[in-house]
Amino acid sequence: MEYFNLNKQKVSALAKTLAKSLSKGDIVLLYGELGSGKTFFVNKVCKYKNVKSIVNSPSYVLLNEYECEPQHISPRIHGTPHTSLRIHGTPHISPHIHGGRKGGGILSHPYELLTIYHYDLYRLSSADEAIELGILERIDEGITFIEWPELIEDFIPKKRIEIFFEHNGLYRNIRLEVKQ
Ligand SMILES: Nc1ncnc2c1ncn2[C@@H]1O[C@H](COP(=O)(O)OP(=O)(O)OP(=O)(O)O)[C@@H](O)[C@H]1O
Ligand SMILES: [Mg+2]
Repeated sequence: MEYFNLNKQKVSALAKTLAKSLSKGDIVLLYGELGSGKTFFVNKVCKYKNVKSIVNSPSYVLLNEYECEPQHISPRIHGTPHTSLRIHGTPHISPHIHGGRKGGGILSHPYELLTIYHYDLYRLSSADEAIELGILERIDEGITFIEWPELIEDFIPKKRIEIFFEHNGLYRNIRLEVKQ
């Protein structure tokens, strides 16, 4: 899925739709140059996942951990239409992003507590350093977002979402790929 000329409001709408589809065990890799909007996007996903604490850029801390307050999520019944990612003026898409690899998420408990792990690997220089942060161990414990994931991408499970951010004047272009 590819979107062009998104202002912040449209990026927020995209983040909201993705937030509804994400559950424990899901991994989102965020690619794109400095200032292309990766942290902004994660902040918005956190907002729609009911994170109440202020969400800062993790550039200097490598990992931010956010606790989502419980929210009631209606179980998705098989056979009903999926949430669709529709942004004004863009094609209708349906991401089919399913829940955690341990079967957690939406169907396991409607009030399940959720943690979001948000990494920024920009300052690291080797895969070992990234792995030592414990990224892989935490994957099953929550939703994982990784900015500047290039160092570690070969070690991350292939079932993941990759999002590519690009400047476009005042706006941003975003490409979202669901990998299986
Ligand atoms: N769609 C958008 N339209 C206009 N401005 C945006 C958009 N998305 C984000 N911004 C703004 O761009 C600036 C940089 O965003 P952000 O910090 O999210 O970038 P980043 O990709 O995380 O950068 P870094 O690689 O340095 O961590 C912020 O001021 C943010 O508000
Ligand atoms: Mg950032």
